Amino acid sequence: MSSFDARAQEWDKNQRRRQTAQKVASAIKECLPGGYYDILDFGCGTGLVSFELVDLAKSITGIDTSAKMVEEFNKKSDDPYIRAYQISLEDLPGSFDLIVSSMTFHHIEDIDTLIHNLAKKLRPQGFVCVADLVSEDGSFHSDNQGVHHFGFDPRRLAETFERHGFVKRCFKIAHTIQKHKAFDIFLLCFQKSP
Ligand SMILES: C[S@@+](CC[C@H](N)C(=O)[O-])C[C@H]1O[C@@H](n2cnc3c(N)ncnc32)[C@H](O)[C@@H]1O
Repeated sequence: MSSFDARAQEWDKNQRRRQTAQKVASAIKECLPGGYYDILDFGCGTGLVSFELVDLAKSITGIDTSAKMVEEFNKKSDDPYIRAYQISLEDLPGSFDLIVSSMTFHHIEDIDTLIHNLAKKLRPQGFVCVADLVSEDGSFHSDNQGVHHFGFDPRRLAETFERHGFVKRCFKIAHTIQKHKAFDIFLLCFQKSP
């Protein structure tokens, strides 16, 4: 059972999370060329980012390790082209034009392998957009269980993507979350080289 299961039903009630998702989705839209995409949302949660991207979407597939998050996502959609699944990246069939992931990378220990696996799910010249915390002092979460990274240095994360054959398209601070102090959220988007 995922530690996120217990929080899934209340997830969307948090205004800070909703605002972060909106800011991240706006930054993604500003970065990408116009068009319609088959979108994968990795670590989709209840779909706060996914559902902000419907106007860009041919389809949206969310994946998440939390069954309850997936359940909450699917309560919001009766469209068969907008669905979430509790399935690993490796077992997920199909390929995508755009992969988004918001506030999930810091929960993944092995980022190098994750980027390798994301690249395999992306069509040639597809895009990947990642939003997460800029390096922080470990005080963002009240409980750091399941937190593998206290944010990221965006420049170093970009270098890791570039080593996997991605070309950086944009970088910006998409939002600043105000808690007991300010925490910057970056957005990095890349294109898979042909
Ligand atoms: C902080 S939440 C962010 C959820 C959503 N992206 C949002 O912005 O509201 C992190 C999400 O990542 C999921 N997660 C953690 N590890 C994962 C993994 N290895 N694969 C897929 N999802 C994972 C959690 O279950 C949780 O839903």
